Amino acid sequence: MQHLLAETDFSPAQLPELFALAATFKKNRGGHVPPVLSGQTWALIFTKSSTRTRVSFEVGIRELGGHALFLSKNDIQLGRGESIADTARVLSRYLHGLIVRTFDHADVETLAREGSIPVINALTDFLHPCQIFADAFSLSERWAGTDGDPLAALRGRTVAFFGDCACNVANSWILGAGLLGMKLRLAGPEAFAPGPEIAELAARAASLGGGSFSFTTDPEAAAEGADVLYTDVWVSMGREEESAERIEQMRPYAVTGSLMARTKPDALFMHCLPAYPGKEVEASVLAGPQSIVFDQAENRLHMQKAILAVLGQGGLRRGRG
Ligand code: CP
Repeated sequence: MQHLLAETDFSPAQLPELFALAATFKKNRGGHVPPVLSGQTWALIFTKSSTRTRVSFEVGIRELGGHALFLSKNDIQLGRGESIADTARVLSRYLHGLIVRTFDHADVETLAREGSIPVINALTDFLHPCQIFADAFSLSERWAGTDGDPLAALRGRTVAFFGDCACNVANSWILGAGLLGMKLRLAGPEAFAPGPEIAELAARAASLGGGSFSFTTDPEAAAEGADVLYTDVWVSMGREEESAERIEQMRPYAVTGSLMARTKPDALFMHCLPAYPGKEVEASVLAGPQSIVFDQAENRLHMQKAILAVLGQGGLRRGRG
């Protein structure tokens, strides 16, 4: 049973197939799409808000011929204290797959371990793998075009990430960069450096794909000659009470026009959205010609359809990670 809880659930050998499927789904949207989820029902269990992830998964499941069932925590007995393990066992008797957005990463691991259907991590406090695979696909289509090798186009490129370098998107970029052979520079306050909890998976990703990451408190050094500047909101869901202090600490790491000027001339700006212009990114950068934030958002749909197609059919053919 293949799940997607962390990027390392896919090996580098599996990624060309995943990226090729996403490209095919994007090219053929509106035309004939094989109904690979025909007869399947996938539930989305979300305990946090979502625009992109929820809507793109629901639309993607329908476009693949399946049925999507949205369940907030309070729609099911999980909200009244039924155990995650029993929820996994019961839902496995009805459904073909689970897509889960929640706080504690251990909860998606329990669902995957105790159930007997594929589980997709749609964001936990630790990781956001669907985002990073869609981001990497967005970069590959820019750099490889339609005929080039999408994975080769990513290898050796430098992504610089600014802000909270211990957040789920930063952690997932650490794993994505490792698997894809990219160089990731993280820049943020010392108190928001990558934590020890990502070390083991990061080492595994780097050993599989040859990528690397580094951390600095110097935003200008991180931006120098980079191919991509990337940022995320400074106040993640569930951390609102810490917002004033976090914003003060993060302010030097805002992505501004002068930071963009330090990159390669054709560098790109990325943000997983939602964005707060004037905080983590200057409005002119977010809306500027180097910004690909809406391509990233669109590609969530195409990449997640690829993930659904492979997990819904029993996993990818090549050797697993
Ligand atoms: N980037 C992202 O996951 O967006 P949502 O929170 O709207 O799903």
